[in-house]
Amino acid sequence: MVFTLREVRNLESVSRRLGYPVELVSEGAVTIVAPRREAYRRPDGVYEPAWAPVFYNPRMALNRDISVLFLRAYSELHGLRDVVVFEPLTGSGIRAIRYAVEASAYVYATDISAAAIRLASLNAEINRVRDRVVLEVADASEAMLRFSRRGIRPVLIDIDPFGSPIPFLDAAIEALGARGVIAATATDTAPLSGTHPRALRRKYDVVPGRTAWEKEQAVRILAGYIIRRAAAHEYGAKVLLAYYSDYYVRVFVELRKGARRADESLQELGYGAYCPSCNYTGYPGNEVKQCPYCGARMVLVGPLYKGQLCDKDLVEAMRKLANSTSLAQKNRVERLLETLRQECSIEKPYYRLDRICSMLRLSMPKIQEVVEELRRRGYQATRTHFDPRGFRTSAPHPIVINTVYELALKRGNTQRYE
Ligand SMILES: C[S@@+](CC[C@H](N)C(=O)[O-])C[C@H]1O[C@@H](n2cnc3c(N)ncnc32)[C@H](O)[C@@H]1O
Repeated sequence: MVFTLREVRNLESVSRRLGYPVELVSEGAVTIVAPRREAYRRPDGVYEPAWAPVFYNPRMALNRDISVLFLRAYSELHGLRDVVVFEPLTGSGIRAIRYAVEASAYVYATDISAAAIRLASLNAEINRVRDRVVLEVADASEAMLRFSRRGIRPVLIDIDPFGSPIPFLDAAIEALGARGVIAATATDTAPLSGTHPRALRRKYDVVPGRTAWEKEQAVRILAGYIIRRAAAHEYGAKVLLAYYSDYYVRVFVELRKGARRADESLQELGYGAYCPSCNYTGYPGNEVKQCPYCGARMVLVGPLYKGQLCDKDLVEAMRKLANSTSLAQKNRVERLLETLRQECSIEKPYYRLDRICSMLRLSMPKIQEVVEELRRRGYQATRTHFDPRGFRTSAPHPIVINTVYELALKRGNTQRYE
């Protein structure tokens, strides 16, 4: 089905030919035709993208903003031009088209749904990137392997599925050359954060648990799982960027071929711990069942990734680019990157100030005061993007608790912890 650009301006005619109501949507530097949101609202009035004939979710605009910035910054840092991207679950094509328009990439994009590819082709046409975006109706794994067998080597493979990226990971890893990045989104946050322990064990092969740092746990489990799958294919893995937003987890992991590299990456896996009694958080090892500070039985979850959540140089480059780029959610992107930049070098999971104060039976001091006081005492400390009630620090556990305790008392609390 070929549309002229003039026809696209007549949305009623496009709707008739596609067989469902559509509207024009602008995001970043592109404008696409998408299913008309008004027509796919739940009884509570919220737009439900999964009900539309082709998937387009405006709530993922930040995810796409960050992805485009990532690709531009990564290419810049490595001196790469005309990079190739695989986006095998493309839906409306918005992500593939943004990579082509905003990061000058060549994109191989597929979807199992013929309706999706019909719409994505129209969208590539409207944005005049038909020569940079190859679109095909195909199964994601089959297509990635086929492209790769033809010698097409992607710099980035972006797996953005419904739910978990697990079914597509092995093919994505096999489709990489000697070096490349896998970006994966997971929306199955209930298993990953420990709310559905059986599903967590089943899908991610992880000893399940629910820590107080559940959003970070979700990110670290997904990153850890990719590292383990990569090692099975003899790739070493480096986490370049990992974050949690809205209702999903997103990680960018660079893989490089080599058995020794794979062995080294596995060293970065371990078990995360949380003590429900004294709020200790850390990675004491899977043998340690008792809290090293209060002796209570801890929640242990793993294996998960214990290392840095992002690469500082990369985040810095992304921040600079964000500053001079028109993005769909510029303010949110800038805030997220700034917080991530500060969080990067503190590997220990975040603390929840409300939980510590509830344990101490004292009302909460300001979280920023806690961060500043920990810094004054010579430790790294920062807020976290994971949770507005959270902070992360390099300070040892007793120092953290004492600092919060003293600040809470200063605020006029009289009740003492017993
Ligand atoms: C979450 S949507 C993709 C959204 C898109 N990446 C974006 O940024 O807007 C997932 C898409 O995967 C497609 N899909 C599901 N299973 C697939 C498979 N095995 N192979 C290819 N596409 C598949 C669905 O048709 C759907 O369009």
